[in-house]
Order: sequence, then C-alpha cells, then structure tokens
Amino acid sequence: MFFKKKKDNSDIDMNNLPQHIGVIMDGNGRWAKKRGLPRSAGHKAGAESLKKIVTEANNMGVKYITVYAFSTENWKRPKSEVDYLMNLLMDYLINAEKTLAGENVRIRAIGSRKELSEEMQEQIKKTEKLTSDRTGIVMNIALNYGGREELINAAKQLCKRAAAGELDPDELREKDIDDNLYTAGQPEVDLLIRTSGEQRLSNFMLWQVSYAEMVFVNKLWPDFKPADLHECIRIYQGRGRRFGGI
Ligand code: FPP
Repeated sequence: MFFKKKKDNSDIDMNNLPQHIGVIMDGNGRWAKKRGLPRSAGHKAGAESLKKIVTEANNMGVKYITVYAFSTENWKRPKSEVDYLMNLLMDYLINAEKTLAGENVRIRAIGSRKELSEEMQEQIKKTEKLTSDRTGIVMNIALNYGGREELINAAKQLCKRAAAGELDPDELREKDIDDNLYTAGQPEVDLLIRTSGEQRLSNFMLWQVSYAEMVFVNKLWPDFKPADLHECIRIYQGRGRRFGGI
C-alpha cells in the first residue's frame, strides 16, 4: 500500500477508532542496509519510531496497541543482534517512565518469560507495576512471543481443568480460550498493520486477529510516521466490517 500525503486527520471518525491495533514492525534491517549502516542502527531507529506511534495512538484515544518486538523465532538471529535487541528492550523498559512521560501509557509484556534473562524478567515486573495504574493506552510488548505457543498454553490450562473435573470439554467456549491468552480481558485486534511490504502473520496473535482488518504498508518500520498511522486508520474506517454477517 502506497500512501498519498494528507495534512491533518480531521476526516478521521474519532468515534470509530480501532480499539486494539496490532503492529508487526518489519523492515529495520533493510532500512539500515539502504543507508550502509549496521542492522542495530535500524532497530534503534525502529524504537524511536515506536515511541512516536504509541504517543500518537494514545493521543487519538486508541485503547490498546500490541507491538511485535521479538518473536520466539528471533533467537535464530546472530547472537550480537539478539543481544542488541535485548539491550534495546531493556533500555526501553527502564526508561519507560521518561520516554513515555506524561503519556499515561500502561506497559505490559506478552510472551514466554522464562527464556529471558532474570534481569529482564525483573525489569518487566517493575515496569508493569510502575505503569499499572495508568489510564491511557495499554501497550503490549510482544517479547519472546509466539501465537502458536500462546494457543498451546491455553490448551494446556484448559486440559488441566478438564482433567480436574472443573470443565466439561463439550461446554468449551471461545471465552475459555480468550481467558487463557496473554491478552485475557482485552478486546480482540481490530486493525493489524505490517510494514515493509511483507504480507504474512508470522505467528503473531493468531487467535486475536481472526476478524482484524489487515493493512500492509510498503514503508520500512523506521520510516513509518504518525501520518501513516492516520492513513491506516482511514483505510480501516473505509472497510465494511461484517464479522461473517452480510
Ligand atoms: C523486524 O525487522 C523487527 C524486529 C525483529 C524487531 C522489532 C524491534 C524494534 C522496532 C525496536 C525495539 C522495540 C522496542 C519495544 C523497544 P527486521 O530486523 O526483520 O528487518 P528486515 O526484515 O529488514 O531484516
């Protein structure tokens, strides 16, 4: 999707915003390569982009944003890149107070924590606690996250309850799955944005995007600006959502 430039967002219907936006922030590496820079520079620029987008989404009144920061498959990258990303994430969490100061953003991490360093696990707890009483946008950082793993975990919990006689398998409902996901209690994703021209889900929120409108943007993530977020929301608002109806 190539966007035309629009100056303001007065045409956006603020009463019909996506409640939950999912973002696959793709293209950091290519952004760096185009500039003859190391991949780490792309991730650093990507983190800056992220701050601006979360701030803008919060200012607009979006309630939830989930960003794909590190997948369960990303461990396959060179150790130096994994280390860089982990340090960047750590800094982001430590500085959450400062970087999102006054933004009223509530930060949560979703994904499997046990493979993360103890330091990171502690910092996640700290940042979550520090921002837990904030009333603005909820930002889920998908960190060591995999959609299939999330569903397997939900299945395990439900099987245990069935084995304990607390749940009749014939009575299983969608809500039982919802309640056992990392995003329990949150609305499903309404708008999914992926940058860099790739058109895949890459194991991101497989259950939660069931009825999401998907917008694939050609820009690389570090080039994605608040005006591009506005354009994605315009596209979302231009689509007729039917949820299987007519
Ligand atoms: C995909 O680009 C991006 C990632 C795997 C990491 C996303 C991380 C950030 C945007 C910055 C850190 C995040 C936080 C929350 C501080 P890629 O590396 O696959 O790019 P390529 O496909 O062009 O190689």
